[in-house]
Amino acid sequence: MNQTGKFLGTRKCDGFFAAQKERYFAVSFDDVRLVTDYSEILPTQTSLKSHFSRNVGLNTPIVSSPMDTVTEYKMGIAIAMDGGLGIIHKGLDPITQAAHVAKVKHRLNVFLTDPICIKSDDKVADILRMKEAKDYGFSSFPVMDNNGRIVGIVTSNDFEFCPDIENSFISDIMSSQLISALPGTNVMEAYSIMCKHHKKILPIFDDSRNLQGIYTLADVKRKITNNIEGYNLDKNGSLFVGAAVGVSADDRERAELLVQKGVDVLVIDTAHGNSLGVVEMLKYLKKTYSNIDVVAGNISEGEAAKRLVAAGADGLRIGQGPGSICTTRITAGIGHPQVSAIYECEKAIRGSGVPICADGGIRYSGDIAVAMGAGADSVMLGNLLAGTTESPGDVFFKNGKAVKVYRGMGSLEAMKEHKTSRQRYGQIEGGTDKLVPEGVSGEVLFKGEVHAVLHQLLGGLRAGLGYLGVKEVSFLKENADFHLVSNSGMQESHPHDLFSMNEAPNYRSPR
Ligand code: IMP
Repeated sequence: MNQTGKFLGTRKCDGFFAAQKERYFAVSFDDVRLVTDYSEILPTQTSLKSHFSRNVGLNTPIVSSPMDTVTEYKMGIAIAMDGGLGIIHKGLDPITQAAHVAKVKHRLNVFLTDPICIKSDDKVADILRMKEAKDYGFSSFPVMDNNGRIVGIVTSNDFEFCPDIENSFISDIMSSQLISALPGTNVMEAYSIMCKHHKKILPIFDDSRNLQGIYTLADVKRKITNNIEGYNLDKNGSLFVGAAVGVSADDRERAELLVQKGVDVLVIDTAHGNSLGVVEMLKYLKKTYSNIDVVAGNISEGEAAKRLVAAGADGLRIGQGPGSICTTRITAGIGHPQVSAIYECEKAIRGSGVPICADGGIRYSGDIAVAMGAGADSVMLGNLLAGTTESPGDVFFKNGKAVKVYRGMGSLEAMKEHKTSRQRYGQIEGGTDKLVPEGVSGEVLFKGEVHAVLHQLLGGLRAGLGYLGVKEVSFLKENADFHLVSNSGMQESHPHDLFSMNEAPNYRSPR
């Protein structure tokens, strides 16, 4: 499509990449820079809306990688609140991974349709023990009779002022004079009723006392004071979230649990997407869950892209070997430099409507602009999001610097810990002392909150759009063209000839 939304079939950079291919030459980030163009827009006027898969949109084209040092529920929540998408890693056992998905999906829920209820003839002591065992962070419960009708509410005060915990029943301490509202009550109405009656919990039930759900004051307040503009939300107003699956028989059960918890997109997370196992898993998932998007990968050749699209993929993940913790190209001798890989995959499926995610090797915001100029609809980040407050793992000090672990899922350390990591690299046979890693483990500097990292990355991407005169990132690929950059050209691109350099929030010298 051009800026008027019409697909032209050819792209400005077709000639550039055809010339490279003719020489059997493939390029990566440091080999190219985008050609500037006439502009009538400012970076602040640009839109970063894009897609990760056919039905999963993005307000900002950043996706966090399914790695055990990058994406669990905290990253999933933070990145979706910044308009992107988190993919929960599959190093977690299936039940835990599904619970992380549920935590992201429920983050913004203010109307709880399935609250934990208790019975009027339950013993107070039993409920307190259950609360402790299940680690519930709340003490308000709707109370039901034996016919499933709501008869009361108990709150923390009722438990606290109970004179005889061991011998009392819930019916002794609950309030049966209920302040309630009818089905259809919206958040603002619920808030004003709660304020008027000083109630922290508002049950919603019909004339027959069938409970439809509850509002709680903390959630309602969060919703109405939060500016949710820019959040990446599904049609029900919940944050979008994805999760990784593999291709083994166990992964079918894993997928089922994830779907039950409301996952929006399943990512078939393998090192070699152009393979029988991935094609079969893709077909199985599309047949079984026709309403859930499936993204398949990883691949780096056009033929592979065509094969996965033909098998039903709703999105593709491109990148074999560019990752900062990856040794695949060195140990296996395979790989396609990332910018050419992105272009070739996009070209192979052009017009199909299947989005492409460029995964790995991104070190600066400028690399995001380059990846999207080459044909990507989004980028997946590992290194740049690792070491943030929201990534899993603890901060510790090394050589006086605050750091966090960042490791490849094919590193010895990750493969020893996770069977799924061994499966990703086809190493299910033999003991863990026989593993042949395709990645390394290390540390990255602690970066603070992911929001600040994303602010810099997205600011740089917007600047790139401004230099090309492109208002919407979704049109970048139609308007981008490239210069091939010599070594000296890249040297002059970095800061140079300084006695010393102050750190910038979006720049570190390459190492
Ligand atoms: P980064 O953003 O450059 O650090 O790259 C992250 C990407 O590297 C991930 O999204 C994966 O596709 C890939 N990856 C993760 N672990 C490994 C590994 O152990 N070996 C090879 N590639 C890996």
